[in-house]
Order: sequence, then C-alpha cells, then structure tokens
Amino acid sequence: MHLTREEESVLDGEKGAGAQKAMELVVALGKIYGADSLIDITSAHLSGASYKTIGDGGLKYLEDMAAGGAKVSVMSTLNPVGMDRNRWKEMHIGPDFASKQLRIIELYGSMGVRTTCSCTPYVGGNMPSLGDHIAWAESSALSFANSYIGARTNREGGPGALAAAIVGKTANYGLHLDDNRAPTVVIEADIDGSVFSHSLLGQAVGMAIGGGIPYFRGITPGVEEAKTLAAAMAASGSVAMFHVEDVTPEHGNHDISGLDVISIGKEELRAAYDRLNTSDDVQLIALGCPHLTEKEIREIAAFLKGKVKRKDVEIWFCTSAEIRDRCPEDVAVLEGFGPVLADTCMVVAPIEGAFRNTGTNSAKAGNYLPTLCCQKVMCRDIAALMGAVM
Ligand code: F3S
Repeated sequence: MHLTREEESVLDGEKGAGAQKAMELVVALGKIYGADSLIDITSAHLSGASYKTIGDGGLKYLEDMAAGGAKVSVMSTLNPVGMDRNRWKEMHIGPDFASKQLRIIELYGSMGVRTTCSCTPYVGGNMPSLGDHIAWAESSALSFANSYIGARTNREGGPGALAAAIVGKTANYGLHLDDNRAPTVVIEADIDGSVFSHSLLGQAVGMAIGGGIPYFRGITPGVEEAKTLAAAMAASGSVAMFHVEDVTPEHGNHDISGLDVISIGKEELRAAYDRLNTSDDVQLIALGCPHLTEKEIREIAAFLKGKVKRKDVEIWFCTSAEIRDRCPEDVAVLEGFGPVLADTCMVVAPIEGAFRNTGTNSAKAGNYLPTLCCQKVMCRDIAALMGAVM
C-alpha cells in the first residue's frame, strides 16, 4: 500500500503514541482488505461507547489512547452509551456501571469527540455531503449515509473508526470505490408505506439476501423510513448500502438489467413479523431505534395526548439531547408516559437487569434484544404497542 511521506511520519511516531497506534490500525486494515492507499475523510462516527458492550477491556483501551495524546482530527460523533448521563437511576442502573460509563464519555470527550451519543448523527450536526468519504461505525447510520446521503463508508468497527478519526484518513477499499457501490439485487416492494412497514421490509430483505446491495422499487422513504429500513437490513442481514429508485442520489449510476428480482409483499412481511415477535406481553416499551427524530416525537405526542397507560409497564423514548431540546412541549407530553432518554437505547443499556419482555417498533431492536439483552420481544407498530398497555 502506498503511503505518503506524512503518513509514514505518523506511523513512525512523529505525531505521538496515540496517533501512531491509530495509524498502525488504519494501515493494518488497509492491508487486510487490499487497499492501495489511504484517503482523507470528512467525518467519523464512533461506536463502542457503552460500558455494557466494551467492558473493562474497552475502557482500558480508551484510557491508553487518551494517555497517548490521541485527538480526533475530523468531526467525530459518538454512538449511544449504556445510560442517559443524567437520568441513569430512572433506568435502574447502579453507581458502579454509571461511573465507568461516565468515564468512557469523558475519555472520548478528551480526545475531541462530540459526545452527543446518538445513532442518528445525520440529524444532529454530523451530516456528510454526497461523495464525502467518511468512517462510520454504526450499522444503521452508515447504511443511511451510504444510501440516502451518498457519502461513502465501509462498515467500520469501533476501534477502526476511532483510529480513522484520529488520523483523518481511512483505507481506500470496499464502498469507497464506485464499482463496489453497484446494486446486486432488485427488490420489488409492496408495503403500506408506514415506518413500521419499512422496518418489516428491512427485516424481510435481510432474511432473504443476507448481504449485498439491494435496489428498491415501490417505496419512497423519507428520513424516518430510510433510517428504519437501513437499521433493519443491517441487523437481519449485513446490508451496508441500498438504492431506492428515484429517491437515493446514486440510484441511476449503475446498470441493473440482468439482476435477480425479489418480490417482498404481505406474505414476506408476515414471516418477518413472526420471526420478530416472541412475546404477547411487555414490561417495557422502548421506542427510538434508531433514535427518534423531532418529527417522530411530535407524532408520538399527538398520538398519546389524552391516553393513560397501565401502571405496571414502563415506556422509554430514546433520542439525543439535541433533538430532545428542540421540541420541549411534545417532550413534556411524552414525559407523562415515561422518560425521554438521551445518550442511550434499549439495546446498549443493561435492561436485562430489570426487564424480561420488551416491546419495540424496530426490527433492529427486535433482532438484538433477545441476544444482547435476554429479552422476549413484542415487535409492533407504535399504535399496537401502546394499545397493548393502555
Ligand atoms: Fe441506535 Fe441502539 Fe437501535 S444504537 S440503531 S437505538 S440498537
């Protein structure tokens, strides 16, 4: 792999131990994937931020990076962590977990990372442009960025994205290259267009194709539908990019004649629904996977006005502090039903200590709650979820 003189000097330690360690990782990844060079990135989005998922080993790694003087050199945002940094007691979290989680946030902050802690950085100030090379490490967000925005990122891991953020570069392979962004299969979708139907569509497509780059016909997703679709396909399969005819910026860039065509309609959505649903009752309903947008908060507030929930059920609404601050009146309505939590989500928080049955409208959460949180899942649209507890 060709390295410039400046990149070699970072590798030789001239910019400090933290930058050297980061460059070593970026170069090693580039060699593994056959990259010919490094490319500049305009932003990074980092995962590996919840103490629940990274544990003491991850915390030590971050301590070492910070002690080595590592600083990010491009706009860098952080994924959800294991708790709301101010309201963790309402999440049944103890002080030991909380202090370690707060230390992780502090360490990322000391390296210059914006610690907004959200999986929808693109609605909160980290919005790349068409054609930008970026290094993002949240499967739903990176798929949204590749697909809906037309920025370019591989499915980075947490340490790889942090290393790229520090050196401001990533290895030039995979989805950074035009040829690798071509569709691999056409999906003819027949759905009702609701956000939940996009979640089930994503689940069904992930189940049908596993990986690859689907090219959708028959849908016109907005931001909320696209983020949900991206999240579902990344969880039920390993899809990191998709095209939507007449919607996404690169949909016309490639010849799709000759590709296999798969139809997804009622029957496939039913199979996806059956796969996701393993419980008829809930102790917790958690909405906001990916994090709720302002529009979603307003819609939920309008839906909930005048309703009363069962007392034995908790409801959590997950979003970022930034979005929460944008719509205080609607947030106040939601707070009448449960906490509007920032920084965190139902999957990366240690909910298994308090709950066994969780309701979600997200196929991504529906995939991960059983494996990462030991939950049985009720996966339905918001009206049906709320209907079960009101
Ligand atoms: Fe975001 Fe957590 Fe879902 S990080 S995409 S809300 S699993």
